[in-house]
Amino acid sequence: MLATGGTIAGQAGDASKTAGYKAGVVGVDKLLEAVPALSSVARIHAEQFASIDSKDMSAALWTALSRRIDTLLAQDDIDGVVVTHGTDTLEETAYLLHLTVKRAKPVVLTAAMRPSTALSADGPLNLLNAVSVAASQDAAGKGVLVAFNNQIHSARDVAKTSTYAVDAFRAPETGALGFVQDGRVEFQRTVVRPHTVASEFSVTDEWPMVEIVTSHADASRVTVDALVAAGARGIVVAGTGNGSMHATLTHALADAVKKGVAVVRSSRVGSGHVMRNGAASDDALGTISAGTLNPYKARVLLMLALASGAQDLQRIFDTY
Ligand code: SIN
Repeated sequence: MLATGGTIAGQAGDASKTAGYKAGVVGVDKLLEAVPALSSVARIHAEQFASIDSKDMSAALWTALSRRIDTLLAQDDIDGVVVTHGTDTLEETAYLLHLTVKRAKPVVLTAAMRPSTALSADGPLNLLNAVSVAASQDAAGKGVLVAFNNQIHSARDVAKTSTYAVDAFRAPETGALGFVQDGRVEFQRTVVRPHTVASEFSVTDEWPMVEIVTSHADASRVTVDALVAAGARGIVVAGTGNGSMHATLTHALADAVKKGVAVVRSSRVGSGHVMRNGAASDDALGTISAGTLNPYKARVLLMLALASGAQDLQRIFDTY
């Protein structure tokens, strides 16, 4: 178990408070102590890998985490890894690990919406469920998984969809892969896109600069021009609808593409896919469509693709 912080390790002065707490302060030993039933599921070696609020996750920490998981899973006496994480950027870390960990053994992320000190804290059960999934033979070869609120999701498709609800995670286009309840782990769907051992990507110590820009009413070109001037290698657009972009933004992004910046169209909508040559002519503009990846996951894939030196970006977005 690699603990990184988050609300699952959060602490509030008052058990009736589910907001206004400090994330990432309770150590992994205390999290384990709160769930005695874990000892009947697995023998757990726990590491306090980080103690952060996941809004502060960094690419450097992603690199270290991916490498640490690879090292641990290479050991014969380790059958799977559970990562405890904050909910805020969990979907980004999960997708990054899904594409960079080079092992078939289970890797399961979990988190909580309520701090560990809250009445009806959701962390302990999520933790028990995550360990049950990681200990299951059925979880091997499915890439990185997220166990949350009794559901099992693929890292590729899951997203945080509520600011406060304990069922905050959903896969809007595909649904959950399965469920975990009272120790029973059951998968009902599988993962079809390549990941882990079949992925062409690796973490790096030198990440390219990739930023996200949103299209909205009255959008200007100020942000895009500033990013290009700052040396951005990639820009993901959180477009309206099917990845459409304000005309002013479209002109700025077309100029960015001419200067060698990779531009990917995603959507700010939260579900659905962005079709190539749908709301914008990708062929004419030189842009890439993100398909079903939300802007935050599209950024992860674009960072990995640019770091790998890949040229065929649309193939990558169609594949992963
Ligand atoms: C965080 O993402 O670290 C804080 C919020 C949460 O875990 O729910």
